[in-house]
Amino acid sequence: MTTSPAPSNLPVESIRAASQKRIIVAISGASGAVYGVRLLEKLRELGNVRTHLTVSDAGLLNLRQELDMDHAQVAALADVVHQVRDIGAAIASGSFQCDGMVVAPCSMRTLAAVAHGLADNLITRAADVMLKERRRLILMVRETPLNLAHLRNMTSVTEMGGIIFPPVPSFYHRPQTLADMVDHTVSRVIDLLDLPQPEAARWEGPQTSPLPELKTN
Ligand SMILES: Cc1cc2nc3c(=O)[nH]c(=O)nc-3n(C[C@H](O)[C@H](O)[C@H](O)COP(=O)(O)O)c2cc1C
Repeated sequence: MTTSPAPSNLPVESIRAASQKRIIVAISGASGAVYGVRLLEKLRELGNVRTHLTVSDAGLLNLRQELDMDHAQVAALADVVHQVRDIGAAIASGSFQCDGMVVAPCSMRTLAAVAHGLADNLITRAADVMLKERRRLILMVRETPLNLAHLRNMTSVTEMGGIIFPPVPSFYHRPQTLADMVDHTVSRVIDLLDLPQPEAARWEGPQTSPLPELKTN
């Protein structure tokens, strides 16, 4: 005997919306605005992700400085855009169901505010919510060198369950361009969001000749 699936009263649109992942992308004022931009572009390419974007004032400054982009241009890459001062926005509440948040890039100021639970703007409030709801929070922290406050704040966020993800490039995949480097890093962030990336390049062992055998005495 075969059984058919139980009929659903949900309209097709609701079923589609329910299977869509919701990801918050925040751009703060550290160098590396390209990470936020590329993350939004890649999430859109994945097709089943609804992005919520918020950008700090310093983030806007760096978008202009580093990429010649204004707020409208970055907003066009997201599905929903929230003003950073709109503390009443949906993403400020734990009742807003959300699958993950990435601050890309994350300044030391925003890191400090998250580490100390300040919730003083929409980015730090949404991050605070992610931590209290035990949801995935990724901070692409960028500064160098690091002082003790930076290191302690990273430890605090890690202890609270957040992921500190400095956008440090790797070279084993032999990047040819800056875009290759950025894409590889962003791809690793998307992995941490548990989103499938069938097209992502992955390490499958060395492509060069095998290493010589190590001599032991
Ligand atoms: C061109 C430029 C580059 C900056 N780069 C960094 C950086 O890499 N890391 C950092 O923590 N702050 C950096 N800052 C400083 C932050 O923008 C500043 O601390 C700001 O208050 C952060 O605010 P926000 O966290 O609300 O975005 C930079 C500022 C400018 C103007």
